[in-house]
Amino acid sequence: MGLATRLGIGLGLDGRAALMPADLMALPSSAALDLAADYERRTFLYDGWRDQLVERLALRRGDTVLDVSCGPGLNLPALRERVGPSGLIIGIEESPELLEVARHRVRLRGWRNVRLLPAAPTSAELPTGADAALLSAADDVLQSPTRLAQLLTRLIPGARVAAGGWKLPSGLMWPLRFYVKALYGPMMGATERLDEPWRALSRHVPDLVVGELGFGTGYLAHGTVRT
Ligand SMILES: C[S@@+](CC[C@H](N)C(=O)[O-])C[C@H]1O[C@@H](n2cnc3c(N)ncnc32)[C@H](O)[C@@H]1O
Repeated sequence: MGLATRLGIGLGLDGRAALMPADLMALPSSAALDLAADYERRTFLYDGWRDQLVERLALRRGDTVLDVSCGPGLNLPALRERVGPSGLIIGIEESPELLEVARHRVRLRGWRNVRLLPAAPTSAELPTGADAALLSAADDVLQSPTRLAQLLTRLIPGARVAAGGWKLPSGLMWPLRFYVKALYGPMMGATERLDEPWRALSRHVPDLVVGELGFGTGYLAHGTVRT
C-alpha cells in the first residue's frame, strides 16, 4: 500500500473529503513525504511484524502507552485499536519531518487521544505514569543503556514493554548480515550491539521473552519492567 493511501489521501475518506476543513487536507511538506516514503520503502518487510509486536504489549482499553521514536506513525493504528478512545498514546519523535507525517496521519483519522511530542525519548518534558512502552525499531534508545534507563523511569512500576526490529543473524544465516546492513544500516546505529539489540533492556526486564524472526534478521521481545 502506498504512502498516500495509508495516510488517507486519495481515499476520499469514505467520500467525505470535500467536506473536510482545509487544514485537515493540507499535506505535509514534500521533504517530509519523501523522507517518510523512503522510510516505508526500506521497512516494508517489517510491517508484517508490527501488529505482532503491539499485541505483545497486552494493552487494555484506557491504557496510556508511549510510542518511543514513533517515526511517521506506522504503529499508531495498532496502538489506537487496542487502547480505544479512552486511552492515551504519546508518540515521541526527534525528526520534525517524520513527526509532521505522523501528525497528518492522526489528523486525518480524527484521533483526539494521540499526543505527538517533538522530543528526545529521555526529555524531562515527557509525562510520567505510562502503563506501557513500545520500542519499535528504536535502536537509538535501546542501544544506549543511559537513555533506556531514563526512559523506563517514566513508566509505572510493573509497566509492560515490547521491543522489536532488525538484528544481525548468526550461524548459518551469517551471510544475511550483509543484506540487513545494506537495507537498514542507515537506521540501525552502532552495529556492534545488533547481535542482541535487547541486551540492555533485559537488565530492566527480568522476564523478557525474546523471539527471533526472518531467519534471525528480526526479533520481538516483551516483558514487565522490574519494580
Ligand atoms: C527506524 S525508525 C523507527 C520508527 C518507528 N518506531 C517504526 O516502528 O517505524 C527510528 C526512529 O528514531 C528516531 N530517532 C532517532 N534518534 C532519536 C532520538 N534521540 N529521539 C527520538 N527519536 C529518535 C528517528 O528519527 C526515527 O524516526
